[in-house]
Amino acid sequence: MTISNIGVISSGRGENLRYILQAERSGYLPARTRIVLTDQPEAGALQIAGEFDVPSLCLDPKGLKREEYDRQLIEHLDGAGVELVVLTGFMRILSPIFVKHYKDRILNIHPALLPSFRGMDAFQQALDHGVKWTGTTIHIVDDDVDHGPIVLQVPVPVRDDDTHDVLKARIQQAEYKAYPKAIKKFLEERHKLVGRKLVFE
Ligand code: GAR
Repeated sequence: MTISNIGVISSGRGENLRYILQAERSGYLPARTRIVLTDQPEAGALQIAGEFDVPSLCLDPKGLKREEYDRQLIEHLDGAGVELVVLTGFMRILSPIFVKHYKDRILNIHPALLPSFRGMDAFQQALDHGVKWTGTTIHIVDDDVDHGPIVLQVPVPVRDDDTHDVLKARIQQAEYKAYPKAIKKFLEERHKLVGRKLVFE
């Protein structure tokens, strides 16, 4: 079995990272996270990386142009031999330089059923719209935000009495299972892009 080298980039708590690392260690995921990068010194992802003995680094974007920052990301990811970039709550928009460098090798998770509720606070957007179902989407990153070809979607119900935090917790529970599953599918199953549709063979 081929083991793929992953690089995870996160701005936040890093809970998805925890589940990805557990899935690797259990043998479910044919991958090894070689490096964790973050743009926030307080990101929980740094601590989680430490718990699993994965090298991690905070790269401060202050004073850097987007392309300059992304070149630093590339330098560290390439230096670690990364083949697949996995975004978990990375809140910066990647430049075309980065997207081109890892063309069709960057995955992102978004807490909604895309193309609904792109952008910030998809939980509140779903509540404000009054949808009965929302969910989570894992997709390939392209030059547009929350837009690229879809790898996997998991629906999550919205209940009448849901608050923002209750709905968020329900979606994030679904994400912890969905992201390792999507990465596994992406790595193990032959696939091709037909237009913007990802077709698994
Ligand atoms: C996840 O819910 C993810 O879907 C969301 O950030 C959270 C990260 O959680 N991403 C976005 O909203 C991107 N548009 P984590 O840091 O605990 O993995």
